[in-house]
Formats: sequence, structure tokens, C-alpha cells
Amino acid sequence: MSVRRKKPEELRSHRWYGVDDLRSFGHRSRIKQMGYASEDYAGKPIIGIVNTWSDINQCHAHLRVRAEEVKRGIWQAGGFPIELPAISLSEPVVKPTTMLYRNFLAMETEELLRSHPCDGAVLMGGCDKTTPGLIMGALSMNIPSIFVPAGPMLRGMWRGKPLGSGSDTWKYWAELRAGTITRQDWDEIENGISRSFGTCMTMGTAATMMSIAETLGFALPGASSIPAPDSNHPRMATASGRRIVEMVWEDLKPSDFVTRASFNNAIAVDMAVGGSTNAVVHILAMAKRARIDITLADLDEIAKKVPVIANVRPSGTYLMEDFYYAGGIRPLLVQLGSHIDGSAKTVNGKTIGENIKGAQVYNDDVIRSLNNPVSNVGALAVLHGNLAPDGAVIKPSAADPKLLKHSGPAVVFKDYNDMAARMDDPNLDVTADSVLVLQSGGPHGGPGMPEWGMLPIPKKLLQQGVRDMVRISDSRMSGTSYGTCVLHVAPESAVGGPIGLIKTGDIVTLDVPNRVLSVNISDAEMAKRKAAWVAPKPHYPRGYGAIFAKHVTQANEGCDFDFLTAEGTIPEPEIH
Ligand code: FES
Repeated sequence: MSVRRKKPEELRSHRWYGVDDLRSFGHRSRIKQMGYASEDYAGKPIIGIVNTWSDINQCHAHLRVRAEEVKRGIWQAGGFPIELPAISLSEPVVKPTTMLYRNFLAMETEELLRSHPCDGAVLMGGCDKTTPGLIMGALSMNIPSIFVPAGPMLRGMWRGKPLGSGSDTWKYWAELRAGTITRQDWDEIENGISRSFGTCMTMGTAATMMSIAETLGFALPGASSIPAPDSNHPRMATASGRRIVEMVWEDLKPSDFVTRASFNNAIAVDMAVGGSTNAVVHILAMAKRARIDITLADLDEIAKKVPVIANVRPSGTYLMEDFYYAGGIRPLLVQLGSHIDGSAKTVNGKTIGENIKGAQVYNDDVIRSLNNPVSNVGALAVLHGNLAPDGAVIKPSAADPKLLKHSGPAVVFKDYNDMAARMDDPNLDVTADSVLVLQSGGPHGGPGMPEWGMLPIPKKLLQQGVRDMVRISDSRMSGTSYGTCVLHVAPESAVGGPIGLIKTGDIVTLDVPNRVLSVNISDAEMAKRKAAWVAPKPHYPRGYGAIFAKHVTQANEGCDFDFLTAEGTIPEPEIH
């Protein structure tokens, strides 16, 4: 079937440059001020490259150069590139947490594209929140858009042993505290764990979200698995530049390829790769932007059916570089068989079924079959009970199987500082059977729902050999983390949720097979505690933080701003 092609006068940018009036004279004379002639831009699709490069984002260090490689493709295909810098969101550097600013990037992406003469968009990101932020903005703006994933860095290395971002940081930090490695070992690990530009190379939030973005249809086939320093990466960037120009002529918008089926595919991939729990919040938020009704129950249903088949840390053994050499995301999708709806469309104009045809697994220990999974317990379980009336999540595949059914007395920390001050106190009344509970870590409480959910094991227990315990919070956890950590408890403590009412000594029950998280206090006692509860003071008297606190939704709704998911269509800007 031939695709109808737009005419130049139907381009969005035509309103800026193509008409004959005073304003367009100004626009044309100003583009000429930059040294461009009419032949460079007139009648061509103008492509906004939303680039999250910055000097402080280690994972995006190459995106400055990659943007030039994207531009090369845009020029080749007869488009006109304009690079639009956006907030960079370096995961480890931005405080108090990048999650405070994901919606900022989403809003910025949407408004950059709306306010400029963009006919299409190239979205450049990968470090954790940048992928969902860019895609949420693009879904709301709904002009032709393609995602160029930053790609994972090379695997870390220490004394001949591979090191994984985050996962091995937590592991060796615990060993250092337990006294089983030396300070010199720790310093050597610091030098070996981050060897190149690119995102974390475990299946953390970055690799998970890049895989999800590709499966949703937003990236060229196989793009999300390419290591950032591999020469295939700039070739993919240039090909993406060429493709977006064609997408503009074809008028292929996110609403044409992002469907319920593509979300179901993306959730299946999230489970199969043993994806980050952060993806839950981002999937819910992206689906809302696409006006597709996805709930925690939908995620749980797919999680029950799809096992983890990517043998990548933290659920497995290998790293993203190995995953790429084993074939990457395309053969993983093939392995998923009927869990994937092959009819879902993608940015290259083909279906996902067409894009993965013939893709082969080159190492069946890295990319497993459904019959030989890495884990059968699943990458996600959604829990409910009187401790989490609106839900909570856990990643069973990264937890100690012995703890997936556990009851124990709570040891409650009222906030992060309380936890930091008391966790290693030798007098802390805690045993390996205790359940550690952290309050004030949610969207309002953190604020911004920081990654505090992998609470440290108390030092005295570490020295006894304990490496995992049941831990509960309204926070998130890094996708590179592991442990029996119940996360995203909703409603959060800072809005009066039961997790804020629990006291040290209450008996908490975690029952993952039956999807339960409960505490042994009666409804009457819970109501009594709620009546005595005092709301915390707001963190921010003014500024962006005040907007965040006023409008952010709870974790089970995706933590987007209510005004960004409201109904209605925003008109194109008037050009006066
Ligand atoms: Fe950027 Fe992990 S710090 S992806």
C-alpha cells in the first residue's frame, strides 16, 4: 500500500517560513543570519533534535557528537536539522533526585517542539529518566518522532572480573562495610567500573527503558542494544536522522504506532529482561500520555506469564555488552513468541514482526528460551493489602527466594536521615527476621520519590553474614539494585498512607505468591493512628518544587502532573 506523502505547504514549518507576510520575512531573514540559504531549508522538513547532552551527564557524553551524526542523516534525506538542548538529568548527579525533574523534561520536550517550527523530532537520551521524559513529551506533542538511545557503556572490569554499574557498587560497598574487601580494593573498583561513555550497562532503568522505547516502536530495530562506543551506534544515529525526514513526509506520528498492543509488548519485554521496577512508574505515565488505559493490574497479569529470559544483572549474570553480542533485543523478542503482538507498528513503517524476522540468538546462555528462563518467579509482582491499599511493587527475580513469604517485626525509620543515623547503631534492635520500613520517601515525601528503596543492611547483621532482608518503602530503587525490597507503596506516608502510620514492632507480612503486603493492626487501630497523624510541612515555599508538590500523582498513577494528563487539545501557536 502506498503511503500518502505530505506536500511542502502542509508542513508545520510552512507557517513560519513559507507564507508571504511580515512575520515570515522576519523568520527567513533570521535563518539567513545564520548563514543558511533558501536552498538549505525552504520547503524541507525541519527536524528538532531534542538533545539531553551536557558536560555533567557522563552517560550522554557522546550525544554532542551523535547529534552531528543525526544531522548528517537529516541533511542526506533532504531535511533541515535544528538542535534544541534540553535538561540533561544525569542520574547520579542531579539532586535531590532526577525523578523530581522527569516531568520537567517531558514538559520541556513538548513545549520545545510546539513553540519551534518543528515538523519532526529526534529524541536523544538514555540515562534513566531521560527516555520516559522525552517520550512522554513526544506522545503529548504527537508530531513524527524517533528516539535515538544513548546505548550502554562497555562492561566494567576489575582484576579480570566484570563489574556491573550499580549492582557491583552495592555489592562491594556491603563487602567493604563487612570488612571482607580493603580500601585499596574499593579504590581499584572505582577506577574500573565505568570504562566508557554510555548508560549503565546492567539491566538498570536506562537499559530497561531504552528496550521499552524500542519495543513501543519509537526506535529503529535493534537500536537500544548497541553499546554507545560501538561504530554501529553512530551509523544508527545517522539512519535515524534519515528516517525521521521520511516519517514527516509520511506523517507517521506516535499516535499511529503506539497502541495498546505496543504497550503490552513493551510490558512483556520489561518482564523478559528482568527490567527495573522504575519502568512501572514510567510505563503508567507514558500510557496516560498516549491515552491508553494501563493499570498496575495489567502489569501484574503480564508479569505472571512472562519469565525473565535475559541473563543480565541484576537478575542474571551478564552485562549489556554481552546481551548485544548475543543478538540484542530483536532475538529476545523472537524468543517471546506469542507474548508479542507482531502486528504492532514502529517508526520504520514496518511492524515489529517484520523487524524481528530472522533474528538469531548467538549465545543461548545470555538470551534464554521460555523453556529455560533465568528466573521463573518473575521480574515484577504487584502487592496489595492494608499496608498498600493502592498497591506496591517488588522485583522477585532480584530477591532472596526464601524471603518472598515472610512475617517479621517492623523496624521503622521516619525518614532518610533517621535511617542513616540509626542503621549502623550497634544498639539498634534488629535481627535478620526484622522488616525494615522507610517512611517519607515517596513523590511528596522525598520529595520526588528518590531511589532509597534498597535500604542498607544494618552493619551488625552484615558482619553476621546477612545479605538480604525484607525492606519496605514508598521510595523507588535503582534498576541496578537487588534484594527483597518492596517499593512504590501507595498511598505514600507523606499524604497519610498506612506506611506512615506503621510503628516499630508491628508485624508485617509479605506474601509475594499471593500478592499480599499487610500489617497486623486492625482497621480501628489504623483509623485511630490516622486521626492522630499530622501532615508534614511542604518542602518548597515557591518555585518548581512547589508546582511539583501541588500536581504530582501517586506511584500507582505514574507520578505525572495532573495538568499534563488532563483532557483537551492544545492549539498550535498563533504566529503573530
Ligand atoms: Fe546514567 Fe545509570 S547513571 S544510566
